[in-house]
Amino acid sequence: MDVLLLGASGRIGHRIANELLDRGHAVTGVSRSGDVEGIDDPDFQAVAGDATNAVDVADLAEGHDAVASALGPSEDEDVTVLVEMAEAVVEGMRDADVDRLVWTGGAGGLHVGPDTRLIETEDFPEDWEPVARAAIEAYEVFEDADDLDWTYVAPAALIEPGERTGEYRTAEGELVADEEGDSYISMEDFAVAFADELESGDHVHTYLGTGY
Ligand SMILES: NC(=O)c1ccc[n+]([C@@H]2O[C@H](COP(=O)([O-])OP(=O)(O)OC[C@H]3O[C@@H](n4cnc5c(N)ncnc54)[C@H](OP(=O)(O)O)[C@@H]3O)[C@@H](O)[C@H]2O)c1
Repeated sequence: MDVLLLGASGRIGHRIANELLDRGHAVTGVSRSGDVEGIDDPDFQAVAGDATNAVDVADLAEGHDAVASALGPSEDEDVTVLVEMAEAVVEGMRDADVDRLVWTGGAGGLHVGPDTRLIETEDFPEDWEPVARAAIEAYEVFEDADDLDWTYVAPAALIEPGERTGEYRTAEGELVADEEGDSYISMEDFAVAFADELESGDHVHTYLGTGY
């Protein structure tokens, strides 16, 4: 597959790029500067682009089989830029006639009970609320874009650099947690889950939780 990866220079995006390349896909990796450090593969090309700009997204997406995103707001930016990115990606993909999107989302909107989402729980860190809300708003942009084959793949509550075990579980709309109630996934295994979904298309139009 020829994949346009938005956010390839990020912590999660870098791992998704490596996972896709290891599986034999060709990856065009986007960052604002056009630099993506540390990936040396003949099937990888780093390019510059602004994911808040639908024209940029359309120009970059053209000719690719799918768009993958690991976009996130920079520290100096308002987190609602995530919503602008979602809107620009949807518009740009429509213009470029590319249908398949796999988006790295947030865990905050996943259910932990029938009427409760993670963001609504007492222990949810206050500092994370703004970005979690922005990520839910971005999800709502995709909900209104069912002409595209989108999948919103959310990490577990906690995601960190770690091991690639190749093992993980998914749940539609629900937080994945272990028997002790801990919700965790390594960035490497998140990249495995993300690439599996990109290849299989098993969860189109779904908010997919991942974890162990
Ligand atoms: N438990 C959870 O729910 C959880 C935990 C962690 C992360 N996440 C989500 O996962 C996503 C990725 O996280 P991360 O930690 O990997 O983020 P990160 O390291 O900050 O990477 C963000 C990426 O987005 C790119 N980017 C930012 N603005 C851009 C723009 N206007 N145009 C093009 N590229 C742009 C950055 O590229 P440049 O800066 O090089 O341009 C970078 O590659 C985020 O949306 C985050 O909210 C969720």
